Amino acid sequence: MTFTRDIKSEKLPTIRVDNISFSWSDEASVLQNCTLQVPQGEFWMLLGNNGSGKSTLLRLLAGLLIPDSGSVVMPHKTGFVFQNPDHQLVMPTVGADIAFGLVSENLTQVQVRQRVKEALDAVNLPELERRPIHALSGGQKQRIAIAGAIARNCEAILFDEPTALLDADTQLELVAQVKNLVKQRGLTALWVTHRLEELDYCDGAFLLTGGKVVAEGEPQALKQRLLATESQ
Ligand SMILES: Nc1ncnc2c1ncn2[C@@H]1O[C@H](COP(=O)(O)OP(=O)(O)O)[C@@H](O)[C@H]1O
Ligand SMILES: [Mg+2]
Repeated sequence: MTFTRDIKSEKLPTIRVDNISFSWSDEASVLQNCTLQVPQGEFWMLLGNNGSGKSTLLRLLAGLLIPDSGSVVMPHKTGFVFQNPDHQLVMPTVGADIAFGLVSENLTQVQVRQRVKEALDAVNLPELERRPIHALSGGQKQRIAIAGAIARNCEAILFDEPTALLDADTQLELVAQVKNLVKQRGLTALWVTHRLEELDYCDGAFLLTGGKVVAEGEPQALKQRLLATESQ
């Protein structure tokens, strides 16, 4: 597969991976000299077959794993949204869960309330502050996880198949909302998906195969290419 660079951005990268390699065990390496950059203020997607190492790569970006070699540069404040929000939302209510993420910042109660309110407004769920987490829909839970990252003033957010458990309508609502949040707030986002229709919402995309990025750039070109492969 040829290596394409269709998007030439003048912006500095916010997410930067240089030549990283990583193995879970001695036998097989998951990532081999993998390189990618996401420019500041852009929404990029990462595609690849099951088991190609997408979740491993996001964990390396989040600092949850250390690469065997190569380097990762990320903003100090990076948020993570998992496939299953039930693994992420830990407090009994929406407001308490978002506030929990702010504990290390030593804010006053008034400041915490303000951050929680502002983050809920950002994801268009201002009325849910007192709602128990168990009473939320799947899509609402994902938006609360995103609100948690916004409340912490994260510059970048990593999404690991956040729509995998959502129905088709909620899926597209979520991806459209993240696109708007990225643009309105100058966030930088990297979103893992296997759903090609989501590519319509991003600025650029990467294809991870054999442990490295083998194609990157204009999302529609990548979409056409993957559709052609699927239909073969
Ligand atoms: N915690 C783990 N321990 C050992 N091997 C793992 C672990 N997580 C993932 N792997 C292996 O790493 C490879 C990549 O997995 P993963 O990053 O989850 O891929 P993807 O998210 O693209 O489906 C797979 O072969 C998987 O079995
Ligand atoms: Mg995965």
